[in-house]
Amino acid sequence: MMKKSYFRPEIDALSGYVPGEQPKMPDLVKINTNENPYPPSAKVMEALKHFDSATLRLYPDPTADGLRKAVAERYGVAMENVIVGNGSDDLLTMIFRAFTSPEQSAAVLDPSYSLYPVLAAMQGASVIRIQLNKTDFSLPEDFLKQAAPANLLVIPRPNAPTGNVIPKAQMEEICRSFDGIVVIDEAYADFADDNCMDFAARLPNVIVMRTFSKSYSMAGVRLGYAVAEASVIDGLMKLKDSYNVDRIAQALGLAAFLDTEHLEHCCARIRESREQLAKDLKSLKFTVIPSQSNFLFAAPPDGNGERCFKILREHAVIVRYFPGPVTGRFLRISIGTPGEIGRLLQILREFYL
Ligand SMILES: Cc1ncc(COP(=O)(O)O)c(C=O)c1O
Repeated sequence: MMKKSYFRPEIDALSGYVPGEQPKMPDLVKINTNENPYPPSAKVMEALKHFDSATLRLYPDPTADGLRKAVAERYGVAMENVIVGNGSDDLLTMIFRAFTSPEQSAAVLDPSYSLYPVLAAMQGASVIRIQLNKTDFSLPEDFLKQAAPANLLVIPRPNAPTGNVIPKAQMEEICRSFDGIVVIDEAYADFADDNCMDFAARLPNVIVMRTFSKSYSMAGVRLGYAVAEASVIDGLMKLKDSYNVDRIAQALGLAAFLDTEHLEHCCARIRESREQLAKDLKSLKFTVIPSQSNFLFAAPPDGNGERCFKILREHAVIVRYFPGPVTGRFLRISIGTPGEIGRLLQILREFYL
């Protein structure tokens, strides 16, 4: 006899989010989860060295006000417009809890970050998946019409896993026309030519999110923030865990955030490597989607992403492969160090030249 389940039906039906592999093979080139190949700012190491471990017996500041204030100052908003999360995934959890339910659906892009539909499913909310154009991953013409029934619209900019951006003017038009909350997930914005942070201060239905996991090289710390109108932040505050960001994360995050010189230097290096890798892949007849991110979405000449993924894996180079009729042609390759990229290209030249 089947054992009785005590879970909510939504949870029983849920497959759960599958994070990118974190393999532990020796001599691995790990370019599969868009981590930064370079270490964080030296200021972060310093803050860690000087961190007073005696303070660990005390709970952290529940709203991370040191970091909140620094974020507010940088973007010319008030502290009331900022919330800090345990990674941007934590902020997304709050957002889906706040704005989706069995009666309130979410609209997401397809392909996009696969956590969004999982968070909607946890709420018992339906998801409108809006297929991007298959060649350049731009928005379909009837995008707004498709999104209209949703209460929450989530757009990563740059998008993941495709790396492209929706033009800023088009983003503004979407935010102004959509009758619901628009989340602009700017996890990769520091690698892009522009961003939509100014919308957060101007448009009352927009939440702009950032993370320390990519450009700040701090995926292991778990830290992110969101900026929006005060009433929206207020609502999210009701939903967050009381002490969602620990003391160490708050101290290290502030040190990283204030070192803008390191950030700019590191992002410039990654952007330069990205453009060079795009050129090198194109010379191997790969199709490369123009990227404004720290990764490339590229299809091998035979359009068989899975085969290419397996070849690379056999040579201890781990990239990300997303099965499916459109995404299955491609691989998502995070920008590694020049040495890591060199190894990737060496293998690809052997098989595709
Ligand atoms: C678009 C997007 N948003 C959010 C995240 C999660 O970031 P964090 O590490 O801050 O939870 C990722 C991670 O890969 C991402 O690709």
